[in-house]
Amino acid sequence: MLLPALALSSAFLAPHAASRALSTSKVAMNGGKGFGGGEATRDPAPTVIDPNDPKGKQQAIHKAESFAEYLAKRSAGGGAAPAAVGSVVPAPNAGTALVSDFTCTWLSASEKAALKATADALSAPNKGFLASDESAGPWLRAGHVDAAKVEDTAENRGAYRSMLYQAPDAPGLSEHISGVILHWETLFQSDAAGNKMVDLITRNGMIPGIKLDKGYDTAGIPGTAVGPLGHPETWDKGIDDLDARCKQAYAQGARFAKWRNVLQIDPVQGLPSDLAITLCVHNLAQYAVICQRSGLVPIVEPEIVPNGDHDISACAVATERVLVAQFEALKAHGCYLEGAVLKPNMVKNGLTGPKATPEEIAAATVTVLKRTVPVAMPGIFFLSGETALDEDNEEEATNNLNAINRLYPDLPWSVSFSYGKASQKTTIVTWMGDTANDPAAQQAILARSKANGDACQGKYVKGSCASVGVDGNILQAAGAY
Ligand code: 13P
Repeated sequence: MLLPALALSSAFLAPHAASRALSTSKVAMNGGKGFGGGEATRDPAPTVIDPNDPKGKQQAIHKAESFAEYLAKRSAGGGAAPAAVGSVVPAPNAGTALVSDFTCTWLSASEKAALKATADALSAPNKGFLASDESAGPWLRAGHVDAAKVEDTAENRGAYRSMLYQAPDAPGLSEHISGVILHWETLFQSDAAGNKMVDLITRNGMIPGIKLDKGYDTAGIPGTAVGPLGHPETWDKGIDDLDARCKQAYAQGARFAKWRNVLQIDPVQGLPSDLAITLCVHNLAQYAVICQRSGLVPIVEPEIVPNGDHDISACAVATERVLVAQFEALKAHGCYLEGAVLKPNMVKNGLTGPKATPEEIAAATVTVLKRTVPVAMPGIFFLSGETALDEDNEEEATNNLNAINRLYPDLPWSVSFSYGKASQKTTIVTWMGDTANDPAAQQAILARSKANGDACQGKYVKGSCASVGVDGNILQAAGAY
């Protein structure tokens, strides 16, 4: 049952950003920002792409009934991309083309091509993820909404999310969002009219994905120190039945997945410890290859939470240690990097530490990424993370991403967003459990997604996207998602 809407400031009910021009989406392999390092190698097969049909590739990915069927069609000449006029884009490993990939041989060339096609579509220029995979409980915290004001039911979660996925104004959300991360509940859910959620997403030109980690127990790793989250270091549950869940998710329409592991910073106690980093990165690497075996592109998310009073240098040191270890582990497990993407934290100060500017955050983040992330991976998508209560998390996340892309316009990956909380605060406060507010809430998610798409190009104008600001902030229990 939906609860009545609360009184809202007219600023958030008024349609905003309604008048943006319909820009022509770029075809992924046409180059442009975010596709440095060999634009012509971004397509998986010698494929003909219609530059006037930028959604063709995504549609081809959606249409596959199962991973095996998709691969069978490809080898029979069915093709992963639409037959159309346009430029022929050669691929490195297809057909009789020059073979340049001698590792990750546990995956066939077709399997790799399929994974790469999805990873490239997800990393399309100036697009990011809508992370809407919060569990019951945290989905309201993501919007900074008190559970007393919106009932935390599966029905309400479904009503809210079906509203999100259908944000209108063609081409709507898909102009800025490539992939939507779903909770397991949502993957099998339909809206009030009986439409499957995954169909709402694919119909609107986006790719559905699935969160697969099962979170962690706060009892944590025996013997590790209690960090700023108030519990020891942790590892995630969910590997045991992951293979079966990947196959189920693919059959249901998911084409990528997410797994988030949490690490804490405490320079005095030496957190994150070497042990926690090792468990975290191998857990993620194991997840990544299990996903790839079933045709799901893994989002690899080693999140170092910002809780604590450390300065930005402590986060820089920790993030570099973690990402070096992460890519070593991915290599050890045989992960196909071209068919995977990274979701890291930005390098920032601790929540109660000395505040760094967006420019300082951009410089420190880019320094660490350049030292650690191979250019074989097509995309880096930041989580938004926790912010201090006196900060507007949506605006901060957009400004920080903007600074990265404004100051460093030639990075060799698509450097983008996968925000949950920082995408949805104003939207959920506008919605507040009343379907009468759907149109206004849809304008809010569109506006913030456009702002983040602009930030991918370094052209976001600070303060130009309407936000509830800090008013909606409530204290969040960091950690669970
Ligand atoms: P944020 O809410 O911090 O952006 O996190 C998104 C997410 O997907 C975490 O795994």
